Amino acid sequence: MKRPTPPIEWVQDHIRIIDQTLLPTEVQLVEIRTAAQAVDAIQRLAIRGAPALGAFGSLALVVALDEAGPATLSEAIAHLEECRTLVGDARPTAVNLRWAVDRVIDKAIRTSDDLASLRTALLDEAHAVAAEDEAACSEIGRLGHELLQEATSIGTHCNAGRLATAGTGTALAPMYAKAQAGEQLRVFASETRPLLQGARLTAWELEDAGIDVTVVPDGAMASTVLSGQVDAYIVGADRIAANGDTANKIGTVSHALAAREAGIPFYVAAPTSTIDINLPSGNHIEIEQRDEVEVHEITGKRITPQGVNAANPAFDVTPHHLITAIITEAGVLRAPFEGSIADALTRTGAP
Ligand code: MRU
Repeated sequence: MKRPTPPIEWVQDHIRIIDQTLLPTEVQLVEIRTAAQAVDAIQRLAIRGAPALGAFGSLALVVALDEAGPATLSEAIAHLEECRTLVGDARPTAVNLRWAVDRVIDKAIRTSDDLASLRTALLDEAHAVAAEDEAACSEIGRLGHELLQEATSIGTHCNAGRLATAGTGTALAPMYAKAQAGEQLRVFASETRPLLQGARLTAWELEDAGIDVTVVPDGAMASTVLSGQVDAYIVGADRIAANGDTANKIGTVSHALAAREAGIPFYVAAPTSTIDINLPSGNHIEIEQRDEVEVHEITGKRITPQGVNAANPAFDVTPHHLITAIITEAGVLRAPFEGSIADALTRTGAP
């Protein structure tokens, strides 16, 4: 397999990302050197996908500290406290972003007694967040590969692959594992209106890896599944509540309903960093509402009549009873999810 350009890289004193808004037409690398650039990249989805947001947000703290150039340790800490919300809450639904920002800031403050050690600790912890995510993706790939042994045709939604993580992806990691093992595989990727992460990003990265991928309009996926062309679904997650209810890209719940009707498994793949144990159910998950313009326009061209309204919720919540299993680096979790999720977090040593 070719070695693709990483979506996020730390280069000497700045972050370099692929601007995902331009894919697949253009592979443009963008340098992030300020907090404002980092927040802008997150909000316009130049960098996106829950685990990638965690890895990127962590590195953005180092960039923000360097930009501010504080004279004392207490000035630096005060600045990081501002960044905790500025960067950590730049998008609200993917818990990995705020989780990683909190983790990196808290560890750096706890372990540093001068400015230089604070910066070193921030960067080290940011690298640790990315390394752990890379390892989690590999394990999810291994476990998902075992589960999907019999499946030769797999459906997915949005993009939960290399572009969305610091590794081989969550939902797409088992597909890479299957391809590497030389197994037969056809992927149905739903296009994912309005920003087309499936059509643009999943199709791009799977094609780049030599995997057979068919892009399906969102509205055509249910009939594709009901006609027996798909053996199983696997999707990513942005936030998983304590009872297993899962927020993921808008449209995910319609795939889960189609899977239930067709009698095929519906798997969610996510690292345990995507679990928000503080939320008892999906009703408590904040759903990002994005600008209407993303619905009104396709590639900058207005498609709706002037004067009509549009709604643009970026995520929906799939109720836990529609989920066959949640594949994490700490094991394959099954119902009742309250117990299996709590046990998985205990295994990872999460506080
Ligand atoms: O709005 P996006 O593109 O950030 O949404 C991404 C998704 O919904 C992914 O499925 C999720 O973040 C998991 S990525 C491994």
